[in-house]
Amino acid sequence: MDIPVLTIDGPSGAGKGTVSRLLAKQLGWHYLDSGAIYRALALEITEKDIEHGSISDIVEAALAMHLSFECDKEFTVLLNGKNITNLLGLESTGNSASKIAVISEIRAALLKKQHDFKQAPGLVADGRDMGTVIFPDAKYKVFLTASASERAERRYKQLKLKGIDANLSTITTDIQERDQRDSERQFAPLVPAADAVYIDSSTMSIQAVIAEVLSLVR
Ligand code: C5P
Repeated sequence: MDIPVLTIDGPSGAGKGTVSRLLAKQLGWHYLDSGAIYRALALEITEKDIEHGSISDIVEAALAMHLSFECDKEFTVLLNGKNITNLLGLESTGNSASKIAVISEIRAALLKKQHDFKQAPGLVADGRDMGTVIFPDAKYKVFLTASASERAERRYKQLKLKGIDANLSTITTDIQERDQRDSERQFAPLVPAADAVYIDSSTMSIQAVIAEVLSLVR
């Protein structure tokens, strides 16, 4: 049986995570947060004191790390049995992830982990290269974006809600730097797949985005 895959790619802060998790729940499909895999690897190399330049050591760590995702009440990520969910969400973790994500050997080492998520009855895959590189044959593809200022504003509110001290102009600069690094890298850059449906969520609610994506799938 052909297992349906819905890919949701886009820049950081576009709402991919929230939208993808809710869609996976409504469809009863599995959920792949590929950014969490890159973030977990960034944490693993810090923990193991591996330098960003030691590609073979990072690849070894990528192949050895054991990740499990629990998607019940809350989204929880365990790295080698340890709950890393809070560390994973830090801006600094996202920035380190984006630095190691430019290296092709590291991306290749994470390929199988991502493919393994494709299981019946279906998969919602969230990331940067889900529709272009990881699941190019996906039945449904979405590119979800929003203006950089709107994304920075959303991230700022999210952090404030969590009681984390945040500065809007620092977040805006971080988002712009990360967009540039992700879009201009040589391997698997952030670009919409030719057959993706483009959604700009700048002025849309989460529910409106979900309704639009569901209309593609149903
Ligand atoms: O989506 P998230 O912000 O968690 O991703 C963190 C970083 O991991 C991104 O900025 C990007 O550099 C990298 N990433 C990637 N390919 C993916 C998912 C994430 O390169 N499929």
